Amino acid sequence: TATTDTGEAIVDWYATAARDLPWRRPDVDAWAVLVSEVMLQQTPVARVEPVWRDWMARWPTPAALAAETPAEVIRAWGKLGYPRRALRLREAALAIVERHGGVVPDDVPTLEALPGIGTYTARAVACFGYGRPQPVVDTNVRRVVARLVHAKAEAGTARAADLEDIAALAPTDPERAVRFSVATMELGALVCVAGTPRCAVCPVRDSCAWRLAGYPAHEGPPRRV
Ligand code: ADE
Repeated sequence: TATTDTGEAIVDWYATAARDLPWRRPDVDAWAVLVSEVMLQQTPVARVEPVWRDWMARWPTPAALAAETPAEVIRAWGKLGYPRRALRLREAALAIVERHGGVVPDDVPTLEALPGIGTYTARAVACFGYGRPQPVVDTNVRRVVARLVHAKAEAGTARAADLEDIAALAPTDPERAVRFSVATMELGALVCVAGTPRCAVCPVRDSCAWRLAGYPAHEGPPRRV
């Protein structure tokens, strides 16, 4: 069964297999992380990368974005889709300037109180932007938990217990716990993918409940033929 040893193995795998993405470099600040997470919510990595680079060069701080007009911000959002995200990001920047002197908050409740910032984004910013060990649960992580811990093929609807399940696997060392959060997202994005996962290259296949149970199929309505 999955334990903190499983989490340690996921962190070790990440060191060898992770994609080198610009918002994961050690020199990025919490604002850069916040921008990347909002962009990545509904847009694939490859399309986000160039827009994120231009965005950070143009508006390197919340204050810079807050001073921009909504029309210009939407224009720069370009083809990322769901352009309301651009306006929400600008509103978050305004709130960061007005309430927090232009400094992105470093704790989850204060981040969640910003306009347009949900619990996922708040946790990602605290964890990846400030190195606070926080469970971070996105769609990929929920699928990893469903399989690894609960022997289910897919995650189904969000569960409050997902956070506890993932926290139970996290390494105790704080730096490794931070890396574990991004590593589990990466495992879900590259190996434990929706549909047919790549178990042959999975670092934790030997402790995966779903694999040990013989890959029971997704529970749902019977398929129509
Ligand atoms: N690294 C940190 N957060 C990420 C995300 N949402 N998508 C891809 N890589 C990430």
